Amino acid sequence: MVLAEQFFIITHQSCELWLKQLGADLDAAAEALVPPGDPHDLELGLEFLLRSCELLKVLKEQVLVLEKLPLRYFADFRPRLDTASGAQSAQFRRLTVLLGNEHHPGSLYEAFAAATEYHGLSVDEVCRRGVEAGVLHRLAEALVDMGNGYWHWKVAHLALVSKMVGEQGGTGRSSGVDFLARRVTRPFPELRRLRGKVHHS
Ligand code: HEM
Repeated sequence: MVLAEQFFIITHQSCELWLKQLGADLDAAAEALVPPGDPHDLELGLEFLLRSCELLKVLKEQVLVLEKLPLRYFADFRPRLDTASGAQSAQFRRLTVLLGNEHHPGSLYEAFAAATEYHGLSVDEVCRRGVEAGVLHRLAEALVDMGNGYWHWKVAHLALVSKMVGEQGGTGRSSGVDFLARRVTRPFPELRRLRGKVHHS
């Protein structure tokens, strides 16, 4: 029982730490992309983005590991969580501001769009030119990969919650799985749309 609770706490604390690193890396990426910047800054931004993609995989793995939390022990200590919830994570909120969603471009996309403009291309042109747009193209691809990494993580969390609590509400007082399913967002819709157009041209 004590061991199961420790497992739960360690997983959550590890996630929070990785989210902190992810937020810091993405802040650094956005800062490197905002003009004025030379190609060296873009490469630096790309380096941070590529690391962020890897961190999202680590976060997803942490969630998958927690699927091995025995339900009988979880049911015992869950009442002690009271109203504590992952939804209170400041690091997570910071991440959503950086990544944005289907309705709001995040600060990272805005930094990328400013960088393309500074280097004489629109985001549309970067997507159409593909590899010919060089590092701007690689940045666009890294952003989409990161958006998908975020999506994978959110789906893994949703599956975990469904396995662990079924139809029960969350400790943070949400409806649980239904609430979370609506929050599985896909960042960088503009890049997805423009990449889709490339297929049909
Ligand atoms: C047994 C394990 C877990 C359960 C049952 C669970 C359950 C939930 C539920 C029901 C919510 C919705 C808010 C609420 O009513 O509380 C939520 C939100 C959240 N959880 Fe978990 N969670 C678990 C593990 C984790 C882990 C390991 C992380 C690590 C990062 C995490 C991070 C979050 C975050 C960031 C949110 C906010 C999501 C959003 O607003 O879109 N959770 N969780």
